[in-house]
Amino acid sequence: MTDTGVSPGFDVAFERARTVGTTSAHHLNAAGAALPTTGVVEAVVGHLRREQRDGGYEASAAVAGRIGELYAGIARLVGAEPDEVALFDSATTGLRVLVDALRLTGPGRLLVSRSTYVSHALHLLTLVRERGLELVVLPCDATGGIDLEELERLLREGRGDTVCVAHVPTSSGLVEPVAAVGALARRHGARFLLDATQSVGQLAVDVDEIGCDALVTTGRKFLRAPRGTAFGIVRRGLIADLAPSAPDVRGADWTSDLDWSLAPSARRFETWESSVACRLGLAAAVDELLERGMAATERHLVAQGERLRGDLAAVPGVTVQDPPSSRSAIVTFTVAGLPADRVNRRLASDGVRTVSVPASHGQWDLGRRGVPAVVRASTHVYNDDADLDALVQAVARLAGQAAS
Ligand SMILES: Cc1ncc(COP(=O)(O)O)c(C=O)c1O
Repeated sequence: MTDTGVSPGFDVAFERARTVGTTSAHHLNAAGAALPTTGVVEAVVGHLRREQRDGGYEASAAVAGRIGELYAGIARLVGAEPDEVALFDSATTGLRVLVDALRLTGPGRLLVSRSTYVSHALHLLTLVRERGLELVVLPCDATGGIDLEELERLLREGRGDTVCVAHVPTSSGLVEPVAAVGALARRHGARFLLDATQSVGQLAVDVDEIGCDALVTTGRKFLRAPRGTAFGIVRRGLIADLAPSAPDVRGADWTSDLDWSLAPSARRFETWESSVACRLGLAAAVDELLERGMAATERHLVAQGERLRGDLAAVPGVTVQDPPSSRSAIVTFTVAGLPADRVNRRLASDGVRTVSVPASHGQWDLGRRGVPAVVRASTHVYNDDADLDALVQAVARLAGQAAS
């Protein structure tokens, strides 16, 4: 098997040493929820203890400065300004709040990528059904990513378009050509909302380079933060035009009987109640990522994905299901004669953690490709060659048994 080609200066042993979960199994499920470091867990648990001792509001006041640093850290990570950051409890919440704030109505049009995630898609489909919007699922080209010529042809029609794209989908290692999408959206005056749930933390994401109007991501995946954390970026030019459909005391001031004013920053999209402990965990995770370096992290993860795709493709009976433009740490495959959920369960009993992704999580992708489900393996900086070998060997055993 080939070597992962870990980038110089990148210390997998150090990451493993501060990641307790690496000792119990081969965790290849970063795209579901990555393993957090000891530092992240300590930040959460430490704050829960503080709440136990001092009271929730008092503990929150004591860490207000650290939460302020979180906004600054997120802004640095994605090339935004701190006042463009809104904290959420999941990517789905963030996408819902921002889409609702766009107040989309017919005869406007939604141009969506095949990579769109189920929960986001179901929200958009609800709007289409109830508000008379038109929806176009963008075709893909030979790379598997959005067909940019077709996107430009549609945008030229100038039909009040909003473009929604997942940078990396839940259902494959595809990386969409988001900077090209952003350039086209700008040129034709369309809004561009990016679902970066599977990309922030694994690929360098810069909102200026991409040219999106808003972005949403989650904490528990490639950021290695606790569950129940997420954030969005809304570019300054757009904030004043977007009003949350349900203003909350966190981002709105109830000024008189019938009136209120909204915070001038992206805080207008937030809610008062949140897990401060988990947000401190997110702050620790963002700091650790910035220290490790996004470029080195991306190099490592892309190299691991490439190695896994090559090794799995060489196993008789295994089909790698990723489209050609897959350049990420997410690798999807099927085993002839074995449903994906059975492969997943058998791998778990061999101490290898993957997930099976059914077409119902991405009908515009897996459904349209006619693939009922895939097994998804996804690596992170704490995975070493032994983890990758364990997966490939276990899959080879299963494929051999299925064939005999
Ligand atoms: C591409 C993509 N977008 C959005 C989501 C939803 O994220 P969350 O569970 O934080 O709402 C997921 C979850 O897997 C995803 O893969």
